[in-house]
Amino acid sequence: MNRTVLTEKLDDETRHRLHATMTILSHWDIDVFTHGVLVALAMVELAPIGQTETWYWAGLFHDVGKITLPLTLLNKPGALDPGEQQRMRQHSVRGAQILTDLGAPRTSVDAARFHHERWDGTGYPCGIGGLEIPLVARAVALVDTYAALTSDRPYRRAFTPAQARLQIERHAGTQFDPEAVERFLASLKDEGWNGSESEMRNQSRQKSSGLGSPA
Ligand SMILES: [Fe+2]
Repeated sequence: MNRTVLTEKLDDETRHRLHATMTILSHWDIDVFTHGVLVALAMVELAPIGQTETWYWAGLFHDVGKITLPLTLLNKPGALDPGEQQRMRQHSVRGAQILTDLGAPRTSVDAARFHHERWDGTGYPCGIGGLEIPLVARAVALVDTYAALTSDRPYRRAFTPAQARLQIERHAGTQFDPEAVERFLASLKDEGWNGSESEMRNQSRQKSSGLGSPA
C-alpha cells in the first residue's frame, strides 16, 4: 500500500466536534458504533506514518451516514428489496456530507464516500476503481468486510478468522486492492486486533455512561 500520504493535522476544535459526533453515534445505535470502533482500531494498525489519528476517525465514522436512515431499514431482517438497497446505499454520500459539514479530515470524508467502491470498478456510489479509490477507503473496504464476516449476524454465525482471511484473499484484485490485502493480513498476525464485535459491544455498553475516546 502506498504510504506516502500527506499528514493531516487536527486542531482541538475539530477534535471536539468529532468526539461529540462519536457520542451521538454511540447513543443512536450501539451496533453501528461498535462496528465503527472495531474498524477504527484496525485502521490504526494500517495507518501510514503520521496518519494514525485521522485513520482512526476515518474508520470510526465510515458508516456515519446510516444515522440518516430509518432504524426499520437498518435492522430489517432478511434481504432488502431493490428500493431499500438504493436507500441503504445513500449512507456513503450522506456520511461524506455530514463529515464535510463537520470540518472532519479529508480522509474521513473520503472513507465515508468511497468505502463501498470496489477495486474492479463495480462498487458504489461512483463506480471508480483501482488507484482512483482513495487509499484510506481501500483500507476501510476490506477491514469493514473482515469485521462483518467475523461477527455474528441474525442470518448466520460468525466466520472463524481463518475462514474470513480466505474470503478476503479470494477477493483480492476484484473487490479489494491486492496490496492492501497483503498488508492487512500481515497486520492480523500481530494479534493486536481480534475483530470481535460482540466483545466490543459489551465494552461499549459498560463505558457508555462516560464516553471519551475509545482509543
Ligand atoms: Fe458502509
